[in-house]
Amino acid sequence: MLCLSSLHDLAKVENLIRQKFASHAPRLREICAYLFDLGGKRIRPAICLMTAKALQFDTSSSQDLVDVAAGIELIHMATLLHDDIIDNAQLRRHSQSPYLKFGLGDTLLSGDFLLVRAFSLCAHLDQYIIDATERACVELTEGEILETPLAKVTHSIDSALDIARRKTASLFRLACESAAFLARPGDTVITHFSAFGESLGMAFQALDDILDVTASEDLLGKASGTDIREKKPSLVNVLWLKSGDPVAARMLLGEESVQDQQIADAVQFLRGSDVIIEARKIARSFAVEAESRLDEISRLVEVDLPSFQGLKDLVSYCIERME
Ligand code: FPP
Ligand code: MG
Repeated sequence: MLCLSSLHDLAKVENLIRQKFASHAPRLREICAYLFDLGGKRIRPAICLMTAKALQFDTSSSQDLVDVAAGIELIHMATLLHDDIIDNAQLRRHSQSPYLKFGLGDTLLSGDFLLVRAFSLCAHLDQYIIDATERACVELTEGEILETPLAKVTHSIDSALDIARRKTASLFRLACESAAFLARPGDTVITHFSAFGESLGMAFQALDDILDVTASEDLLGKASGTDIREKKPSLVNVLWLKSGDPVAARMLLGEESVQDQQIADAVQFLRGSDVIIEARKIARSFAVEAESRLDEISRLVEVDLPSFQGLKDLVSYCIERME
């Protein structure tokens, strides 16, 4: 069981995030607070803090670390606001999506606002972190724009993984890389942490793609099979197409929208299929890669064991949830 909220410093990060919602326009505050109060694991700031702690960095006295962790979560929030508009999403975390509740224009502006707030937190930091943040934000945008529906563009496993690397793993990487940079353990360890973050992010995205089919609507907070409905180049969808199933080709490559019953049948079929077994195998390979980076780090530097174990638990959590 994951218990990220037990991290004392996470409360500081959450307070700073709320402070950053301050605005002359009450509507901006309302939309940002609405999204924030929908909850979530705060996994990006959590891994940022855990990375620094694992490297014996004194997290309680570093405002820079709190700024980075808060900035990354603010960027993540901005992407969710924009993503729901792009996906025409009605639900987020069991509730009305901000887009449905507040409308396109105000949700779009709130995303812009959060992004600027995030940059104000990172701007005073070392150029290394500023450059890494720019790189991650560019990749996020690339990942989202490359995620063209399967009915419009041909995708492969490689292109699906490339999209996941950009749209999800980039922020995980940024969280670990920035925290490691602040702790100054030397270039090799920073590189391993950066690669750890990326692999963990890949495992998380692969898990997300699998859960879209295997998890109940109750657990997901939105309808199962959403990736099928949206004909997304998710790992599961590209593997399903690759299996040669004519149903996959009909549902995912055709222009016409897919009916609720067809999605329910597809979800039912996929749950027990080789497609999910193959997706789990790929997801597990990223988790294993993340684990091996941690092993390498522990050979190079003396780590703070509880925080280091926290990072290991995150990888195990990914593997367990896949089953
Ligand atoms: C969620 O994907 C979306 C992302 C992880 C990335 C979204 C990126 C953008 C909208 C680009 C904008 C960039 C900036 C810097 C603001 P999903 O639809 O698969 O997941 P979901 O189920 O949570 O909606
Ligand atoms: Mg979405």
